[in-house]
Amino acid sequence: MATVEHPVGSATRTSLPTDLAALVAFGRDLIPRERFTSVDFLALEYERLWPRVWQVACRVEEIPEPGDFVEYVIGDRSAFVVRTGAGEVRAFHNTCIHRGTALASGCGRFRGEIRCPFHGWRWDLDGNSTFVLDAHEFPAEPAADLRLRDVRCETYGGFVFVNFDPDAPSLVGWLEEIPGYFDPYRPERMCFTSHKTTVLPANWKVVVDAFNEGYHIATTHPEILRWKDEAALEYTPLRTHTRYGGAGWPMPSRRLGIPTDEVDEQELLAFKIDDLIDNLPGYIGPAEAEALRAVARTPLPDGTTAGDFYLKRRRDGAVARGLDWSHLDDDQVLGGDDLLLFPNFIGPVIAGAFFGYRVRPNGMDPHSCIFELWTLEERAEGQPHTMCEREVYPDWRTHDWGLVVQQDFENFEGIQRGLRNAAGGGLRWNRRQESCVRRFHEVLDRYLFDAPT
Ligand code: FES
Ligand SMILES: [Fe+2]
Repeated sequence: MATVEHPVGSATRTSLPTDLAALVAFGRDLIPRERFTSVDFLALEYERLWPRVWQVACRVEEIPEPGDFVEYVIGDRSAFVVRTGAGEVRAFHNTCIHRGTALASGCGRFRGEIRCPFHGWRWDLDGNSTFVLDAHEFPAEPAADLRLRDVRCETYGGFVFVNFDPDAPSLVGWLEEIPGYFDPYRPERMCFTSHKTTVLPANWKVVVDAFNEGYHIATTHPEILRWKDEAALEYTPLRTHTRYGGAGWPMPSRRLGIPTDEVDEQELLAFKIDDLIDNLPGYIGPAEAEALRAVARTPLPDGTTAGDFYLKRRRDGAVARGLDWSHLDDDQVLGGDDLLLFPNFIGPVIAGAFFGYRVRPNGMDPHSCIFELWTLEERAEGQPHTMCEREVYPDWRTHDWGLVVQQDFENFEGIQRGLRNAAGGGLRWNRRQESCVRRFHEVLDRYLFDAPT
């Protein structure tokens, strides 16, 4: 498998230079653009943000068998998540306690035990030392000191989270209101339909921010206006995370000024179904997409709207696939919720599927980031969970991501290039439609600058 390099490098600092303190966004109308371009700001994030927050490391279906592991890298830090012999999920710092060698790379399976490739020290899957070559030539040490170093690891909804702070609050406390939004979609019953990694030419926060608002839809994704009133999206900044959603009922954007009685419901239905399936592959799970495609041009019964018809077909299709959506309201079936799990895991969840982006800084380069697109599909209860192939595209332009994601990607180089031009001064955020973007940066400032958020 090709891999994306994680360039090494982070810094530690003992005090905060005043020029960095000037980059706070909290409480400001004009936002310093250097937040997205400064190497020192990136170093501050490595020092004060990433060591203290829960981060999605992988999904449980990636490590079904004892010994299966996935490495999670953030800057210089690397941990690996492993399935133990008892079937539990644990995480360890990815470094040998002898002379530091990394023990895991990418993903794979330890055969019964973890073995260092340098001098062959070994540990069981729970991290206990089982073998030291020529142990009598080392000073005696308590067994506990020879354990691998634990990383906090908890799961929610099939996602495995790690936190490098041993004193971090529990994951469930950290997630705050997120399960209230996410649980109804039963993420624990979903599994991967695609897993793609690439490098994007923009700061990681540029990318998170781009997926945390619908304000850009009218300009960047104009085709969506034909079937979605994106101006009606509701934004719900939470304490730490953010959510936006609503506007799921198929209708042309109010920006197009089409009188209600002139809307062609038949066309509307085809626009919505074709766009979702062709232009956002994976947004509707593949099992459902095929069935929906067949109805895109079915003549609507008299008096039936595109929304009524689409809703009914989605609900009937779920029943046919053995899924129980009876507890989901129409908005959840039609439009879903866009969730940001602070700081770097974001995307829409709708009935039956999740379309998530995981974004990480790329070493010490503030002008690029490591980006992953994860698409998940709900499986009926009792159906086996499987893992798909992982795809890696070191150059994002070599892959067809689907029109909508492609449109977003094409913006990034220009955004980052423009941000580097300091002459433009402070940045501005729309009070309503970019309120989740603002919230994200306020919470970031909670970590970087102790902002009273
Ligand atoms: S560095 Fe791991 S056994 Fe020596
Ligand atoms: Fe977009």
